[in-house]
Amino acid sequence: MNYFPAFFDLKDRPALIVGGGEAAARRLRLLQKAGARVTVVAPRVGEEIAAAIDAGRIAAVRRGFVSGDVNGQAIVFAATGLPAVDERVAEAARTAGVPVNVADHAGLSSFIVPAIVERDPVVIGISTGGAAPVLASRLREAIERLLPSRLGRLADFADSFRTAVKATVPNAATRLRFWDRFFDGPVADQVLAGNDHGAREKMLTLVNGRAAAEPPRGGVAIVGAGPGDPDLLTLRALRLIQRADVVIYDKLVGPGVLDLARRDAERIYVGKSKGDHSKSQDEINALITGQAQAGKRVVRLKGGDPFIFGRGGEELDYLRRHGISAEVVPGITAALGCAAAAGIPLTHRDHAQAVTFATGQGKDGEPELDWATLARLKQTLVIYMGVGAAGRIAARLIGHGLDPATPVAVIENGTLPTQKALYGRLSGLNWLVRQSDITGPALIVIGSVTALAEAATPEIESAPTRAIAV
Ligand SMILES: C[S@@+](CC[C@H](N)C(=O)[O-])C[C@H]1O[C@@H](n2cnc3c(N)ncnc32)[C@H](O)[C@@H]1O
Repeated sequence: MNYFPAFFDLKDRPALIVGGGEAAARRLRLLQKAGARVTVVAPRVGEEIAAAIDAGRIAAVRRGFVSGDVNGQAIVFAATGLPAVDERVAEAARTAGVPVNVADHAGLSSFIVPAIVERDPVVIGISTGGAAPVLASRLREAIERLLPSRLGRLADFADSFRTAVKATVPNAATRLRFWDRFFDGPVADQVLAGNDHGAREKMLTLVNGRAAAEPPRGGVAIVGAGPGDPDLLTLRALRLIQRADVVIYDKLVGPGVLDLARRDAERIYVGKSKGDHSKSQDEINALITGQAQAGKRVVRLKGGDPFIFGRGGEELDYLRRHGISAEVVPGITAALGCAAAAGIPLTHRDHAQAVTFATGQGKDGEPELDWATLARLKQTLVIYMGVGAAGRIAARLIGHGLDPATPVAVIENGTLPTQKALYGRLSGLNWLVRQSDITGPALIVIGSVTALAEAATPEIESAPTRAIAV
């Protein structure tokens, strides 16, 4: 982060605006909303500021700026439009240790003012760190459209019941759950619809009734995080991740997805990679169960889809046997994500009438696969975890009759900015993999559909056809 996001309490605090034009007036509007005691220093002021002075809402000093003006101020805004004056204001404020913002000059400012969405008391600040102010204002418009106009009223309504709820629901975790249900429930709907009276009556019943004191009920969602790009999460996955008390996640779940969890949610890494198992599957099962039994909302986050080479089935079975309720949220599996990102249609009327997902790694080494079926023509074959066994896989398929010249692709880090796609022929698959120094997760796609993507990306160098060493 280039800038630290924070909200200042300026109620009854002294604030200085240097300048009297439109930019200064914009700052004045904000400062007045925040309840600051504003002084404007400017030899001349525009209509809006003049009106505020005449109404006695702000103090005015009708002269040019002098350094001593910043003394004792909680915050300073320079908005004269005169670079030399703004620079002097910035320097004086910095010397006095007072936060300063110079209109349209982030370089001189010690803080910047974000684009703001206001549903008082709810305030949302949006910043691109000065990189793209137009993007910030587009985001503001998008959020404006998304948020109900009475959202602030809802916040106030909830606030008015905080003490009562705290008294009837002393347990913090139960209380959190209560509020969670509240914001999703009919009382909140009524507040947002403007029916405060009906909402208040319902709320009283809720607070005084048994519902509030119910102990928290834990549960587990086994959630597919997709192949890496957070934009490929399902809406349901996003909602569950944002509500989770605990996120138990695998190696292939990227930081972009984890960042979507609440800041106070516990994040537990249980990733496994070849030869490095931070936790055994039994330990993972016990961990998920324990967290759910403690009343927490657990999201078990897995790369791709939980039921495709993800051991989601084993975890679900374990939870059911231990009486824990669990739902499964599908994710975009690596084959679909990588194919889309690389432009490989997995089926195509002229090339492939079927698609098969297979693993290159069995429970104890080589998987038991029906190679004759896999070598069948007119299908696309996607191999997960196959990079280490690329030579063997190619040999088995060729041995069972697949043409050595069959086009292949290897996609590493699919859907991520670091995605790499390599193209070649089945006979050269081993070479293709070995020479390209693959360190991230990678898929092998075998079939003539890969040639369609290769043809569309001429800048990517093709691997030569080479005899494979088995
Ligand atoms: C244990 S499997 C998990 C598969 C996951 N459940 C899914 O549905 O995608 C891990 C393998 O998936 C593949 N994989 C996962 N994410 C990938 C990505 N972003 N790019 C390429 N391959 C990926 C790799 O073959 C990796 O070795």
